[in-house]
Amino acid sequence: MRLYAIKGGVPLAGEVEIGGAKNAALAILAASIMTDETVLIENVPDVRDTNVLIAAMESVGASVIRQDRHTVKINGSQIHNFVIDDEHIKKIRASYYLLGALLGKYKRAEVPLPGGCNLGTRAIDQHIKGFRALGAEVVLKNGSVVATATKLKGTHIFMDKVSVGATINVMMAAVMAEGRTIIENAAKEPHVVDLANFLNSMGARIKGAGTDVIRINGVAKLHKSEYAIIPDQIEAGTFMMAAAITKGDITVKNVIPKHLECISAKLVELGCEIEESDDAVRVVASKRLRNTQVKTLPYPGFPTDMQPQITVTLGLSEGISIVTESIFDNRFKYVDELVRMGADIKVESGNTAIISGVKEYTAAKLTAPDLRAGAALVLAALAAKDMTTIDDIKYIERGYEDFHLKLQGLGAHIDIVEAEKDLQKLNFQVVS
Ligand code: UD1
Repeated sequence: MRLYAIKGGVPLAGEVEIGGAKNAALAILAASIMTDETVLIENVPDVRDTNVLIAAMESVGASVIRQDRHTVKINGSQIHNFVIDDEHIKKIRASYYLLGALLGKYKRAEVPLPGGCNLGTRAIDQHIKGFRALGAEVVLKNGSVVATATKLKGTHIFMDKVSVGATINVMMAAVMAEGRTIIENAAKEPHVVDLANFLNSMGARIKGAGTDVIRINGVAKLHKSEYAIIPDQIEAGTFMMAAAITKGDITVKNVIPKHLECISAKLVELGCEIEESDDAVRVVASKRLRNTQVKTLPYPGFPTDMQPQITVTLGLSEGISIVTESIFDNRFKYVDELVRMGADIKVESGNTAIISGVKEYTAAKLTAPDLRAGAALVLAALAAKDMTTIDDIKYIERGYEDFHLKLQGLGAHIDIVEAEKDLQKLNFQVVS
């Protein structure tokens, strides 16, 4: 049982380096097996999700060499198997990106159907619709998606729902299809653009990524590339929120400020000061924050992956705030944990949180329910004066590299302990 021990109440201050984007890395790693030549990828975050995907890629025969902690060399020429193991998909849903990558390159792939998860039902009908439109036969057999094709042919696809995953999967399946594919109502997230840039660096011909119409001219094959992944919008946003909730002064470095505008704008509404430079954003919060309304939306709207973090911040703001979740149907389960810390939040119809700001949170024994909600509970604990413990930190480690070390660098009293009895040994027990 590994848990975070956090003694909050310290305004966090200083600089923090943001790593490569987890969600871009998952798509780019999967796509890197689409050439028989060797691909070098830099700025890969060393987190559980990317490591599980790399293991899934190795399990079908890809060779992956780690040059250093954040650089991998991948060669997909020896792939001999098109079936992704159940264990990998159980650990991370994004293993299904290998469906698009394998189908696009070898015209066959078999991946167990990803089940529901902590965020509620997550359908993959748009992925399947896209593969079928390209000419693949897709059947569900023994709980797996089996996709096969004699050839893939470019076509016009209209997504019924804006889906990051379906846009990425269909884009990968289409890059080596014959002729031209047009994806309408495509997702515009920075990681969709990053994947398109990466595929183009391998010889693909993709235009329009970052708009809602993506045009792909099929090419016969892809070639080697060296590519660095963009910085993580959500990791950066989480540290920006840490400045806001602790009334601190944090500069997030190695970021693309444009990707953070939706978060910066909300922080300004709350009363934070924001300073932007070319590759850094500074957030200063010196007084109690104001209330606001937030609705999660596809990019460039406010990201659903920042919803728990802004909700915990608004829990300490003046007045009544409202947060509406419009992407996932079950993303407020962590509110029960927050209420145990003294928050006054009511969730209506499963997708709207009515938040009456309280003056402080009190420490509690908590459990991380999923990745982003887990990170949000860490933020809440950083604002509570006494010692909070957060169990099940494996969820948080899915997407944050060295989270506790980066927070320590900003002055936080946080550490990992292997058991509750070890809490006594912590240095910051005695710090007031
Ligand atoms: C990705 C991100 C995740 C983020 C989410 C929304 C990765 C690895 N994960 O997840 O962190 O929270 O985008 O920004 O990048 N849907 C359908 N049919 C489909 C596909 C999706 O109905 O075929 C629905 C989903 O149930 C959900 C919504 O569309 O309600 C958005 O899902 P989607 O954008 O596909 O999210 P993911 O790609 O799974």
